[in-house]
Amino acid sequence: MDLDAFVAGMPKTELHVHLEGTLERDLLLRLAARNGVDVPIPEGGFTDLTSFLAQYYPAMRALVTEDDFFELAWAYLEKAASQHVVHAELFFDPQAHTGRGVPFPTVLGGYRRAILRAERELGVHADLILCFLRDLTAEHAMSTLMEALPFKAWIVGVGLDSDERGNPPAKFADVFARARAEGFQLTMHCDIDQPGSIEHIRSALLDIGVDRIDHGTNVVEDPALVAVLRERGVGLTCCPISNGFVTDDMKAQEIAALLRSGVKVTVASDDPAYFGGYVTENLLALAAAADLTRDELVQLQRNALEIAWLAPFRRDALL
Ligand code: ADE
Ligand code: ZN
Repeated sequence: MDLDAFVAGMPKTELHVHLEGTLERDLLLRLAARNGVDVPIPEGGFTDLTSFLAQYYPAMRALVTEDDFFELAWAYLEKAASQHVVHAELFFDPQAHTGRGVPFPTVLGGYRRAILRAERELGVHADLILCFLRDLTAEHAMSTLMEALPFKAWIVGVGLDSDERGNPPAKFADVFARARAEGFQLTMHCDIDQPGSIEHIRSALLDIGVDRIDHGTNVVEDPALVAVLRERGVGLTCCPISNGFVTDDMKAQEIAALLRSGVKVTVASDDPAYFGGYVTENLLALAAAADLTRDELVQLQRNALEIAWLAPFRRDALL
């Protein structure tokens, strides 16, 4: 069997995909027309995180009704099923919607409906991770967390995304402490080559006590922090194709080195509608760039299942 077929056929767990980042152009155009809203069409050409985010958030204005959020998540879940994803943990950015007048339950209700249907009809299991926008205030994040509490059963964890410059993990220490006390799992983006990357990784790990880190490959610069990742079993959700757009390369060598040193590295797609690759394409891109063996590709999937926020009975059934 050739490598493409091997990777395509592997059962997969995807732990780092932003639902709003799965908004493909066709759906964007259809929703914008249906809702009568004028939305700038993303043109690509991103060179860094800031230039990506500048196209990413305005495009979300196409999403207005609960059906829109349902259709977005359903389209991703159909694609995931076609790539043999058996479990996915899906980031969503409620503040990007509530901030323009879309009620929190509208967003969550649409996403939840798609997840329930996907489990029934596609055999894909999925959970939601609520991401706070780190360029907004900690007070705004805290009030979003309060808004989410009645829906706790539908949200497995919280994360932190958007523009990292000047927005360190410590800014959200109280929000994450409260989220932990409420029973949520914790993750945070530590985007690559940001000012203060290593300090952000250190703080996320040691001050906040996150369960996972999204991206975080700058950790290779600090062997003591790599050792902490290994000892605590804190995994990294890496997105090679996304890296190739928002940094100077895919960081394939760093990802492979961390995998080979025993860190629980996984591979995912981040914002596939923007970066042009779902999980299969990300695995193939990494395999080609870092010469991964089939055993290493299987290890990436095993890692993903081990660090997934799954009930033990589900994990055991999938491992
Ligand atoms: N939102 C969507 N994708 C993101 C990324 N890679 N980093 C930060 N925020 C994001
Ligand atoms: Zn991301």
